[in-house]
Amino acid sequence: MSAVAVIGPHLIDILGRPVSEIPEGQGSVVLEEIRVTVAGTGGGAAVDLAKLGATVSSFAAIGDDVLGRLLVTQLHEYGIDTTGLVTQHGQKTASTILPIRPNGERPALHVPGAMASLQPTDVDVTALLAADAVLFGGPETTPQLLDPQGIEIFSTVRAAGIPIFVDLLYPGRPETLQLLNPLLPLIDWFMPNDQQLRGLTGVDDVVEAARLLLARGVGAVAVTVGEHGAVLVRPDVDPISVPAFPTTVVDTTGCGDSFNAGMITGLLSGCSTEDAALIGSACGALVASGLGSDAGIEDLAGVLALIAASHSDAGARIAARTTTALDA
Ligand SMILES: Nc1ncnc2c1ncn2[C@@H]1O[C@H](COP(=O)(O)OP(=O)(O)OP(=O)(O)O)[C@@H](O)[C@H]1O
Ligand SMILES: [Mg+2]
Repeated sequence: MSAVAVIGPHLIDILGRPVSEIPEGQGSVVLEEIRVTVAGTGGGAAVDLAKLGATVSSFAAIGDDVLGRLLVTQLHEYGIDTTGLVTQHGQKTASTILPIRPNGERPALHVPGAMASLQPTDVDVTALLAADAVLFGGPETTPQLLDPQGIEIFSTVRAAGIPIFVDLLYPGRPETLQLLNPLLPLIDWFMPNDQQLRGLTGVDDVVEAARLLLARGVGAVAVTVGEHGAVLVRPDVDPISVPAFPTTVVDTTGCGDSFNAGMITGLLSGCSTEDAALIGSACGALVASGLGSDAGIEDLAGVLALIAASHSDAGARIAARTTTALDA
């Protein structure tokens, strides 16, 4: 079983659907469903990785409030090691209210809370070195981890041969690229969505935008494009398009986090890059089918069944790899 250390935003999402409009004044509407989930480029991916069979440890700052206790309880239910969570007294746990539109779109009302306070001294480097991969979600939300002392942590991880995966939480901005600059050469796979990549680089074409990051030292880019799947951009090879899977969209919150979890699971099992991204894409389709970033995915077998239904060759290859990896 692979071990993945997940650093970055662990949030509580409160989601309701379907919301067509906020009622005027003190009016109210009756919804079909309201859910509370662990989410974020850290927490959401951590839960998905655990469901897919990885041994997961979480590293983040949370508040000493009800939401923080709920977050820890939920992570424990998935068997996730929470030793690396730091509780900040008097602060709030990061959280988001998401009124989900009938078409699955998700405007967000967000409190960052304690999230940004995570410091290099909060992160146990020895614990990271025990992992097979490190996912650093939302580095722009924890700026202190991008200071020289924080960058030293990721240099140590990289020097130990442990791959580093990075995704963004917030919309991409040119100043975020500036902030990420020292981290870029340490990233094996950068996995933003297309809008984040465009916002970060100011380049409209996603392949060109990804190549700009490769030129700054990023190892490879997997850019997700919602219902159009993903594009893999690596040095010296042609870009590869990875298809999306058909799904009935309920809520697209957390699709990208699940794509990351699926792709990491595939790569750690020894799958080809393309097959690993296909696992990611299948995870994204499953998450889109339910409310909340933890919806849709039950386990790896369910993801493999979705892949096998429309891509039988890839399904067989992936099943052979992941079964061997799980047995090892
Ligand atoms: N409508 C959809 N139909 C099928 N697959 C989808 C759909 N939306 C997302 N996906 C799958 O999920 C993956 C990630 O989605 P997306 O690009 O929306 O991520 P994101 O914007 O980073 O999401 P989040 O940040 O909320 O986790 C896509 O590459 C695709 O495979
Ligand atoms: Mg995302």
